[in-house]
Amino acid sequence: MSNKLIAPSLLAADFGNLQRDIEMVNNSEADWFHIDVMDGVFVPNISFGMPVLKAINKHATKTLDVHLMIVNPDKYIKTFADLGSHVLTVHYEACTHLHRTVQSIKAEGMKAGVALNPHTNINVLEDIINDVDVVLLMSVNPGFGGQTFIENTYHKIKKLKQLINDKNASTLIEIDGGVNANNAQLLIAAGADVLIAGSFVFNSEFPAKTILELKEKANL
Ligand code: DX5
Ligand code: ZN
Repeated sequence: MSNKLIAPSLLAADFGNLQRDIEMVNNSEADWFHIDVMDGVFVPNISFGMPVLKAINKHATKTLDVHLMIVNPDKYIKTFADLGSHVLTVHYEACTHLHRTVQSIKAEGMKAGVALNPHTNINVLEDIINDVDVVLLMSVNPGFGGQTFIENTYHKIKKLKQLINDKNASTLIEIDGGVNANNAQLLIAAGADVLIAGSFVFNSEFPAKTILELKEKANL
């Protein structure tokens, strides 16, 4: 049986009540915590860094899926491993030596993820897909929660799925941005394995129920 994963993005959590929101996710049907680190250089926004990740790691009981929207991610790979990251995702657009970066992430005992901006073609992954554990397709431009889903993402998922199958790889496809109950099933049908949802979860009246709704839609 397939198990499609749901990863609530803490970017949309209430930081004044972070422990409460983390415990909600711990006790929900969610699979991963999605954690967005932004540096104000790679993206036009600054979110949070190491001290907050340390606090999250103290309370979270599920996989920490860390999405680095920063330049020079190589500089911090060991730091993020020490902070308890399980999946560490870097942006293709921020890595000059992506193969080296991916190997360094794995050498630190983490799963290696590579994120692609909406404009970046799937083909750039052709020669590295077998080394990558997770490909994160941005379905909005990175930097902010609450943006509108870009419809071309479906086409990219199908193309990526084809590449993964052609190369006999076991890479997971993760979708980030504008995910909600209306597109969850369509994304899975196109080939997605992990759905990230920030504002749809945390802005809802009953976030744990919303997570359950996404989990059910993803696994119909
Ligand atoms: C955006 C982040 C996303 C964001 C998604 O740059 O990478 O993870 O939190 O938020 P929503 O689900 O609100 O689009
Ligand atoms: Zn993200």
